This record gives sequence, C-alpha cells and structure tokens, in this order.
Amino acid sequence: MVTTIGILGAGRVGSAIARTALKAGYAVHIAGSGPAADIELIVDIVIPGAVPMTAAEVAASSDLVVLAVPMHKFRSVDPATLAGRIVIDTMNYWQPIDGELDEIAADPRGSSEVVADYFADARLVKTLNHIGYHDLETDARPAGHPERHALAIAGDADAAAVVAEVINRFGFDPVLAGPLASGVAFEPGSPVFGGRHTAAELAAELEPAEAA
Ligand SMILES: NC(=O)c1ccc[n+]([C@@H]2O[C@H](COP(=O)([O-])OP(=O)(O)OC[C@H]3O[C@@H](n4cnc5c(N)ncnc54)[C@H](OP(=O)(O)O)[C@@H]3O)[C@@H](O)[C@H]2O)c1
Repeated sequence: MVTTIGILGAGRVGSAIARTALKAGYAVHIAGSGPAADIELIVDIVIPGAVPMTAAEVAASSDLVVLAVPMHKFRSVDPATLAGRIVIDTMNYWQPIDGELDEIAADPRGSSEVVADYFADARLVKTLNHIGYHDLETDARPAGHPERHALAIAGDADAAAVVAEVINRFGFDPVLAGPLASGVAFEPGSPVFGGRHTAAELAAELEPAEAA
C-alpha cells in the first residue's frame, strides 16, 4: 500500500504533484538536485507539510517515486536508487526546454521506453504527463463527480494498478492504456496531450493505440 510518495524534482510539476498528494492524504518526501537544505525554505512556503530530502533519501524512504525532472536531466538521477521501485514518469520531451535530445527524438519508441532502458530495474509507469501542472490542482474532483477528468496510465499491469489508485485519490479517473509502449498515445503531439477528457472519452482516444 502506498502511504509515502517521493518526488524527484521540486519545480513546477513536482510542487503541484506534492500539494495534490498531501491533499489526498499521502506523506510527501521531495528532492531537488542538491542537498535538502537547498529546498527547505521553498518547500516550507510552497509545499507546507512535505519533507525535503536528498534524492537518494527520497528514493529509499518512499513507497512510490515520481520523476518530475526535465527530460534532459533524467540521467542525473542514479538508477540504482530506484531499483525495484514503482516510478511514475511525468516527463515530456519539450525541445524549447530540453534542446535537441537525439536519444529521444531519433528513437521511434515513446520517451518512457527510452527512460525505462536507463532505469532498467525500476517499474516505470507513465502518467501525469498529459495534464498541465497548473490544471492538476484545479481540475481534481471527488470520485463520481460529473466534471471529473481522466488521466491515462501506461505500464505493466501490477504497477499500473498501484498507480491507478494514487491517481484516483488525486482526484482523477485512471484509464489504463496498456504497457509502457502505449504511452506514446498521450505524449506531446497526440490528441490526448493537454486536453480534458472524461474516462469514456479518454478510453475512446486510446483505443486505436491499444488495437495497433
Ligand atoms: N509544464 C507542464 O505543465 C508539465 C506537465 C506534465 C509534465 N511535465 C514534465 O515534467 C518535468 C518537470 O517539469 P517542470 O516544469 O516541473 O521543471 P522545473 O520547474 O524546471 O523543475 C525541475 C526540477 O527538477 C529538479 N532536478 C533536476 N535534476 C534532478 C535530480 N537529479 N534529482 C532531483 N531533482 C532534480 C530541479 O532541481 P534543481 O533546481 O536543483 O536543478 C527542479 O527542482 C518535465 O519533464 C516536463 O516536461 C511538464
């Protein structure tokens, strides 16, 4: 059972996920790229209740870890610290921020599959990437609410089921898209990316990708 969510990245996305997780009743451990002291003040102000740590401490002390670092920085995270962990990949390849990343751009697979090669011993699940960080908190709704939106999840079935419960508690209907390769259907440039969908609408959008 997930009680503590660890977040690598205390920027825009990491902070929004951290606040959402705290509101949902999870304990939150969070890290930037450096020592805990570097983010103590900002965490205190922007994410009160979250516990600042180093990245290695976050990985070791959390039931599930969220990767919320810029894509061009993912190799600065030590893969050994995430071995055996369920890891949510929120990252998108965003050229204006990331520059030219040939390993992503030239690979026909989805970016999460490239990332999964690096975190080979982690159980990588793609989600939380197709909603804007500013929408995460404002769009969250309780289960059954008519305006509840959905978020897609791609990854192996057992890990995806764990993540689905987290997404549900965050205030969104989880829609399972299939294995990690299916995540390409909700990357930047896809019809799903940046849109708002009910669970039925999202499942319909993802259907062709599953059938392909
Ligand atoms: N913009 C959106 O609405 C949106 C939505 C969904 C997903 N995304 C994706 O989410 C990711 C994060 O975006 P962002 O806008 O939150 O970036 P951001 O504001 O630049 O924040 C990035 C954070 O990652 C930290 N970081 C870098 N290397 C790290 C490491 N090795 N260990 C731990 N933390 C590390 C940085 O810490 P330092 O300051 O110490 O370097 C910073 O706190 C990107 O891949 C983006 O594509 C964006």
